[in-house]
Amino acid sequence: MDKIVINGGRKLKGEVIVSGAKNSALPILFATLLTDEPVTITNVPSLADIDTTITFLNFIGKKTIKKGNIVKTDYSNKYKPLAPYDLVRKMRASILIMGPLLARLNKVDVSLPGGCTIGARPIDMHLDAFRKMGAKISVEGGYIKTFAKDGLKGAVVNLKFPSVGTTENVLLSAVLANGKTTIVNAATEPEIEDLANVLNKMGAKITGTGTKKIVIEGVYKLYGFTHEVIPDRIEAATYMIAAAITKGNITLKKVVPKHLKAVSDKLKKCGLCVKETEDTISAKWIKNLKPHDMKTEVYPGFPTDVQAQWMVLMCLLNGNARIEENIFENRFMHVSELQRFGADITIDGKVVNIKGVEKFSGAPVMVSDLRAGAALILAGLVAEGETVVSRIYHLDRGYDMIEKKFKKIGADIRRIHNR
Ligand code: EPZ
Repeated sequence: MDKIVINGGRKLKGEVIVSGAKNSALPILFATLLTDEPVTITNVPSLADIDTTITFLNFIGKKTIKKGNIVKTDYSNKYKPLAPYDLVRKMRASILIMGPLLARLNKVDVSLPGGCTIGARPIDMHLDAFRKMGAKISVEGGYIKTFAKDGLKGAVVNLKFPSVGTTENVLLSAVLANGKTTIVNAATEPEIEDLANVLNKMGAKITGTGTKKIVIEGVYKLYGFTHEVIPDRIEAATYMIAAAITKGNITLKKVVPKHLKAVSDKLKKCGLCVKETEDTISAKWIKNLKPHDMKTEVYPGFPTDVQAQWMVLMCLLNGNARIEENIFENRFMHVSELQRFGADITIDGKVVNIKGVEKFSGAPVMVSDLRAGAALILAGLVAEGETVVSRIYHLDRGYDMIEKKFKKIGADIRRIHNR
């Protein structure tokens, strides 16, 4: 399996072009099942999860090809209503197949997703929503069998938690349901707005995205579309923190500054010089940064997907910092790996307490999940000596050309291909 080798200590300087957002491209790819007409999606990042989804769509019967950062689907209308275990276990977002296939075929059989390293990640809210919309659900032989005899009908879906995936699955099904659906306590992440913009381009009638109450008037048919995926705010935040950690100066291009306001505001409070234009952010280290406590929240709060990266920065500042993870129940897998660099971190339930240390020393480390992997790369960039990061297939799921982008701004980083 591939590894990434880093010799730390370089100040990173230069420009990074932010790729399209993984967590926007994925639901938009599943939305292509809602129409038989061809679509074109641009600014699609080159990631393992995108490839997995494209394989999945072709398996279902939607002819889909990706050339560079452009995905095109063809006319197609015969779908298999099945999501097999070997596809679902690879990527939790496969659960988004349920909405479109229930909407089009009134039925779908999906393998139970299984847990993942950042927690059990149940799908009870997804299933409750489909039941509200008239689907009958049973679990047999490791599969969730879902059937809506008379088709889906509009309903009021009250979410106990503003779940991103559940909000997306309800959007992907309610657009073709009979009647009106209202999502109460909906997620408001930018990726939800991007998906709703695509669905409305297809002829759907959705209002209220970006707020906690979204209303969808079901329509009879949806049409083809062309769409450019929004930039990846999590990737952008990762490179901003890289500038802070390496005392560098990085300008992010093709980014939407307001999408990562919570991260920018926190970094400014620490003392990083952050300047924004309409589609760029410059992050420049000008003086020693001060640590700041942080708690993860749903959008527009500080994103859980940037928690691990933030932790690395706090480990290397002079003073103490507290981090509270409120979204996932087990998202501290990176702590033990950071301790191998010399970090001083103690876990207390959903809180970690950090004591800043002078420096990190390079070490062989292992990636447990996507964002933890980004944190280990950041640690290696600043650690003294060599760091070897293994199990980087987790990283390739969500970061487009990470070592190439870091190398371009001065990092001593390379990928070694191990058979
Ligand atoms: C999306 O996951 C993202 N993934 C995650 O990014 C992100 O961390 C998460 O939203 C929160 O922002 C994609 O968009 C593909 P949730 P999702 O439903 O939809 C619990 C990354 O690194 N929950 O908002 O799975 C769940 O267990 C990934 O790019 C239920 O209990 O997130 C979790 O604790 C990691 N029952 C919390 O809600 C349900 O039915 C948030 O989950 C659904 C969720």
